[in-house]
Order: sequence, then structure tokens, then C-alpha cells
Amino acid sequence: MKNRPRRNRKSPIIREMIEETVLQPKNLIYPLFLLEGNLPSTEIISLPGIYRLNLDDLSKEIEKCVLLGIKTFVLFPVIKEEYKDAIGSYSYHQDNFYLEAIRTLKLRFPNVVLMSDVALDPYNVDGHDGIVQNGLILNDESLTVLSKMALAQAQAGIDIIGPSDMMDGRVGAIRTCLDENAYEDVSIMAYTAKYASAFYGPFREALDSAPKAGDKKTYQMNPANKNEALIEAELDTDEGADFLMIKPALCYLDVIHVLKESSNLPIAAYNVSGEYAMLKAACEKGWLNYELAMPEMLLSIKRAGADIILTYFAKDFARLYQNG
Ligand code: PBG
Repeated sequence: MKNRPRRNRKSPIIREMIEETVLQPKNLIYPLFLLEGNLPSTEIISLPGIYRLNLDDLSKEIEKCVLLGIKTFVLFPVIKEEYKDAIGSYSYHQDNFYLEAIRTLKLRFPNVVLMSDVALDPYNVDGHDGIVQNGLILNDESLTVLSKMALAQAQAGIDIIGPSDMMDGRVGAIRTCLDENAYEDVSIMAYTAKYASAFYGPFREALDSAPKAGDKKTYQMNPANKNEALIEAELDTDEGADFLMIKPALCYLDVIHVLKESSNLPIAAYNVSGEYAMLKAACEKGWLNYELAMPEMLLSIKRAGADIILTYFAKDFARLYQNG
């Protein structure tokens, strides 16, 4: 035998030298859930270790993460039922606590990058990502609200807008609105291929944002489809997206791969709540080793082609990374 691949595995130094994929905390975005005012922070039952945080606790969390090398955060607001209406108008009210928190956080942490969520579901009585009329999700009417929401977030100081709604044309509508108001430096991370997935359950529990009726299949993508992701990617790119995202990550590694191969934009993947929950649950039962399985999962997403990973594991990964 002339070829013995095991020679390249014979010592830790050689294995490390030829390592093809490297994941670092700087590739990660950490999702944080924000509560209004000084409500007490509470752990999310199906996301052990992840909390709905009031602004003070959320600031402390950012401080800790920054020391671990995490510099980008995506913020999701927990909206009280009484603020919800049919058109999600609270999303762009000037006294909205989410917008106030963005302003405060940008003052406290000028060097941290903040990403928002733009979608109607946390603000909408129907729990859908667009305006609902007679059981239908209206596309173009929703774009108006999404644009107002994105503009309000840009005015509050957000760095990256994250439209997670899957309405047609929303990247273009938001880009135009931002540019018309002189926010051409605010970025857009398009949720390009967001699938109608069963893995968002714990997130919807965290925000109490599950749809009251029906499902999200008329706007989120069919898990069976990959070519459709290419159509979405082409549209989002033409409409001015700065990053393309695939969501969820683990059941869609092939989609991450194909978008990475076909686009020159940075590719992000959202390692969603259900993916976090299933690993955590197995580890709590003692069936899997967390410190081995968690980085292997994240590495698979990077190896598939994601430059950036949004993940609830970010802090734990960064801690492991720092400890070598
Ligand atoms: C809603 C939104 C969802 C997630 C992020 N934004 C849920 C949904 O589409 O129902 C899911 C994130 C996760 O599960 O971690 N616009």
C-alpha cells in the first residue's frame, strides 16, 4: 500500500495542521429574547439554559458573551397580548420597548453588532408573519408594515435587519425604504430559504407566537424543495440582500451547500430552537456527550458551507473554544 490515509491522522499536530474546517466564536450569532421593562427573567422550558431576559439581564449577558468573543446578537421581543392587533402596528410605535432597548444597547455597546427580527408574528393577534384577511396571508399589504418596522429599527440604530417572514419582495421593499430614508448603511440578512419546519416549536413557546389558526405553508418553503431555494436566493440577491440565510440548518445541510456553491454572498444558517432542544434533551438524559456532540453539530453546518451560524449554542461553544 502506497497510500495510507491514516498517516495524516497519526498525531494531534498533524490532524490539526490539515484540518479543513475551522469554527470560531466570531462566526456565530447569539439569539436573545427580550422582555419588556423590569419583568423578571425566566428560563424557557423547552430551551434549557436560554432565558427571556429583561434589559438589565440582557446587557449582562452581552457583556459575558463579548468576553468570550461573541460580537453579534439577534434580538427577539416577547410582546404582551394586549399590544397585538391585526396589523402588528406596535412593531413600529416609537415607544415600543424593543426599539428603546436597541437604542440603549447601541449606547452601552457601540462595538457590538445587533440584528433584528422583522416579521409580524410576535405583534399580530393571528400569530402569522403577514396580515391575515379571511384566512389568507396578504403579501403586498404586509410589505408596507414590514418596511415601517425595518425603518423604525434602523432609526433606533440596528446594524442588520433580519426579515424572517418569507413574504415575496420584502427584501426589495425594505431596501428601498431604508435607502429613501438615508439608511443605506444598514444591512439586510435575508431569510432566503426558510422552511415550514417542525423545529420552531420551542421558539414559538418562548414568544407565545404560534399561529392561532392554520400553518405557515403558504409562505414558508416546502421541506421537499431545493431548486426553490435557488429561486429565492436569486430574488433576494437582486433585491439587495447582504447575506443569504438557510433555516433550519441541520435538516437542510444540502441546501446550505448548494447556496454556498451558487452564490458569492456570505451564507448564514439558523441552527433553530428545536435543533438545540433535541440535543439538550439527549444530553440531559445522558444519552449524548454535550461537549463532543455540540461542536460536531456546529462544525457540520460550517462544513456544509455556512460562513455564519445563528445558534443558541453560541455561548457554550465560545466557552469551550476559550478553554481549548
Ligand atoms: C418568526 C420566526 C420564527 C423563528 C425565527 N423567527 C418562527 C416561525 O417562523 O414560526 C424560529 C427560530 C427558532 O426556532 O429558533 N418570524
